[in-house]
Amino acid sequence: VIDAATDLPLHGKKVLVTAGGTREMLDPVRYISNRSSGKMGYAMAQVAREMGATVTLVSAQTALPRPQGIQYIQVTSAAEMLKQVEQAFAQTDILVMAAAVSDYRPAQVVTQKIKKQAAEPGLTLHLTETTDILKKLATQKQNQYVIGFAAETQNLLANAEKKLAAKKLDLLVANDVSKPGVGFNGDTNQVTLLSPYATPVTTAVLPKLAIAKAVFKTALEHGIASKN
Ligand code: CTP
Ligand code: CA
Repeated sequence: VIDAATDLPLHGKKVLVTAGGTREMLDPVRYISNRSSGKMGYAMAQVAREMGATVTLVSAQTALPRPQGIQYIQVTSAAEMLKQVEQAFAQTDILVMAAAVSDYRPAQVVTQKIKKQAAEPGLTLHLTETTDILKKLATQKQNQYVIGFAAETQNLLANAEKKLAAKKLDLLVANDVSKPGVGFNGDTNQVTLLSPYATPVTTAVLPKLAIAKAVFKTALEHGIASKN
């Protein structure tokens, strides 16, 4: 007997996941990015689908195979990711912002390859802030359940508490990326789940798929299935 409520707890829900590290082009051949592998976001997308959700994955460049059975949208920059997430947000029940979005982009778009300057020593890059996608959408949410991620290298709990409040999140998945086996690039992660609804809980070091299950389980305990 298949009981949809327990076997497919996200049945009927639309889940929008972002993943990977955005790239901000400096010139036609160079970019600024980060070490994100996209694995945590892809795990979130896969688990959401396994739990019965209709999943859209907005992915920055990764080396990962494209997951089956989901709508896949490829983007490069933070601005492109913002555009896609904004377009899909009204139709979304759960937003999972697992992407490592660049905080800054080059202030100027240069269309030709930057040449070495023999006459002047060094090179100064002028950067400007990108839009905080998560903050923007969370502050204009209707019934959406919004999940953010936080990568920290120090003061995990204090920094995470601030992000939870500042970005008006329902759930924040925080990880200390300075620890081995945690966060960026690896197949395992250890996270602290923070929400306005419960005291923080820290998981063991687990495969990213198990972490993703724990995240959705927590969200379900918060009643996402009955929110809409
Ligand atoms: N985020 C976003 N748009 C940005 C930057 C971050 O949507 N321009 C999202 C990330 O996807 C993540 C959350 O915000 O879900 C937290 O990202 P993080 O880098 O940990 O925090 P920031 O708020 O960017 O602060 P800082 O990098 O200074 O710690
Ligand atoms: Ca950041």
